[in-house]
Amino acid sequence: MSKVADKKVYRLKQHSLAKISCYRNYVDIYLSVLANSPFEKLYLLDLFAGEGKDIDGNLCSSISGAEALKRHFTHCPEDRKKIVFFLNDPGNSVIEKGLKKIDRVKKFIDELQLPENVTVKYSSENFEDIIDGVVKRLSQLNSRERALCFIDPFGYKYSKPEKIRDLLANGKTELLLFMPICFMHRFTAKAMKDEDYTEGRHIEEFVSILFEKQIPDIHNQVAFIKGIQKQFKTYLGIPFVDIMYIEKEKSQFFALFFFSNNKKGFQKMLEAKWAIDDQNGHGFTVNKAAITNTLFDNIDHEDYTYQLYEEIRKKEVLSNQEIFDFGLNNNHLPKHTKKVLDELKRDGKIIISTSNGEAALGYYLEDNHNKKIIVSLKK
Ligand SMILES: C[S@@+](CC[C@H](N)C(=O)[O-])C[C@H]1O[C@@H](n2cnc3c(N)ncnc32)[C@H](O)[C@@H]1O
Repeated sequence: MSKVADKKVYRLKQHSLAKISCYRNYVDIYLSVLANSPFEKLYLLDLFAGEGKDIDGNLCSSISGAEALKRHFTHCPEDRKKIVFFLNDPGNSVIEKGLKKIDRVKKFIDELQLPENVTVKYSSENFEDIIDGVVKRLSQLNSRERALCFIDPFGYKYSKPEKIRDLLANGKTELLLFMPICFMHRFTAKAMKDEDYTEGRHIEEFVSILFEKQIPDIHNQVAFIKGIQKQFKTYLGIPFVDIMYIEKEKSQFFALFFFSNNKKGFQKMLEAKWAIDDQNGHGFTVNKAAITNTLFDNIDHEDYTYQLYEEIRKKEVLSNQEIFDFGLNNNHLPKHTKKVLDELKRDGKIIISTSNGEAALGYYLEDNHNKKIIVSLKK
């Protein structure tokens, strides 16, 4: 089927299916992490909800989210939390002429018969007309409420850093943002080379707000994604930003960014993500060269083995809590950190001791572990 015909019949492409599957995973984890929490009400917002299902019956984000809710409450009937499921899309259906996309979504959701603690709200407004209202409503969440928001536009003109900052400002919202990195990367390169490139207005605004006066590293798309991740952390002032890479074709990426203020929730998300990586054979391995190569030439500075070793070299002494936090902030789990520490210990580069200076038996890499351990650089 040609691309034009695909568009006419609305057939989800491989990278869109991958994105929706990542989104569904996040929703599953979010619901299960919060199942045993004291929170009483969750808001799940999909602000670019789509058609519901494509021409082949593949689920869009809206129905994937609805199925995740149904699955969760079927398996976990003791969870009596209230859910407000807000779905928005202003578009007209290209599959069923005369229907709005959101009416099609409603039809599929009605068939699903969601449990009665789930209230679904439908809207067909332009994002730009409702976002300030959404931010205002989320800023009024009380201490027993939380929200997860999905932003999945065509392109990136609505993915403005200021709006993302506003959405996260209450400290109670987690956000998933899909970004077509391959297009953004191409247009950034063009806008940086050609001052008269007027079509690049949105990307120029995005880059100049997020990177301020710095020039983004665009030598490849992965470097560009990592730069965006780093700048988001600084700009938004939130500790946890994770990325799912979706490779469209060789070295052409889309990315799903996950923003969170919550340490425990973020750790659970990372566990689930690494479980998928382990299954796919892209799991974590210690990079011995980062430890043994004293010249540090040819070393990937984004490599976690290198980063952790550098942190210990720089600070010379770190507690188990600091090491645990460093791992999470760099999107790695305690089991990865343990592997690196084991290797450094074996190579005689670090000493592990208790606060009394005695040899320690373990690293105790958990948040707020009652045992305190010191990792120090061996000089
Ligand atoms: C990339 S699609 C997202 C699809 C959906 N999340 C899915 O999984 O299929 C973008 C959607 O944004 C909708 N859209 C277009 N302009 C919009 C706007 N100004 N505000 C909100 N949604 C818009 C389109 O109708 C389209 O369904």
